[in-house]
Amino acid sequence: MKRLEGKVAIVTGGSKGIGRGIGEALAREGAHVILAARDQEVIRDVCVTMRAAGLHVRGLQADVSKVEDVERLIDDVIRTEGRLDILVNNAGWGVFKPVIDMTVEEFDGMWATNMRGVFLMSKAVVPHIRKVGGGDIVHIASLAGKNTMKNGAGYCATKWALRGFAGSMMLEVREFNIRTVTICPGSVETGFSKGGKKGSNIPQPSDVAAAVLFAVTAEGRAMFSEIDLRPTIP
Ligand SMILES: NC(=O)c1ccc[n+]([C@@H]2O[C@H](COP(=O)([O-])OP(=O)(O)OC[C@H]3O[C@@H](n4cnc5c(N)ncnc54)[C@H](OP(=O)(O)O)[C@@H]3O)[C@@H](O)[C@H]2O)c1
Repeated sequence: MKRLEGKVAIVTGGSKGIGRGIGEALAREGAHVILAARDQEVIRDVCVTMRAAGLHVRGLQADVSKVEDVERLIDDVIRTEGRLDILVNNAGWGVFKPVIDMTVEEFDGMWATNMRGVFLMSKAVVPHIRKVGGGDIVHIASLAGKNTMKNGAGYCATKWALRGFAGSMMLEVREFNIRTVTICPGSVETGFSKGGKKGSNIPQPSDVAAAVLFAVTAEGRAMFSEIDLRPTIP
């Protein structure tokens, strides 16, 4: 028996990088997975590949920073799947440059996806997860939400904020049997940032996915509220 048989999960930013890895891992454990991102064509291609591997995935176009997109996404999932058990707030955007060079649009854009999107999605899913008796909300934050870094002022601020949001929300929803886990990876090999680290010693999306699976398949009485993920070789 697969461990997530019968469960329905949404992964935001599920078309690339870490989100794609998480979506695949959840589907391999038997979950019905909805991958959400803005670029319809990329999601479609990813779904074709995953379905060819026998996985139950569906792609839906949505910008998590837009109220109407989030409403449409959740309505579609409930209408077609009839339930929702797991949300992975993974969609994120990072611009790395000095504060004096960062445009207002870049700053606002990071907050729109990394924080407003998390708020909109989390708010929208809680009533549905309560209806099925509980479930999991996973936030993909970053070690940049615990540390500071040169040229990372805008990005770090959104991830520090996310940890504050997640920790506080955890205290509100656990009484409804909803667990929240915040995962804080260091560098992961994806197309996320131009200067991102590459190589066999760098954690991969599958490593973040393993942390997600660990948390969402834990015994119901236990909650891993925060997990740091670092490379073994610095
Ligand atoms: N890679 C790292 O080193 C690293 C380390 C720590 C934490 N993280 C965090 O991990 C998460 C995923 O990063 P990644 O490396 O996998 O990035 P990525 O490869 O750039 O993928 C980002 C994903 O998010 C989607 N997305 C971006 N803005 C969106 C929006 N407004 N609405 C819906 N989807 C949106 C993108 O698709 P569209 O563009 O089509 O929307 C894409 O699917 C982010 O939250 C990031 O901050 C990454």
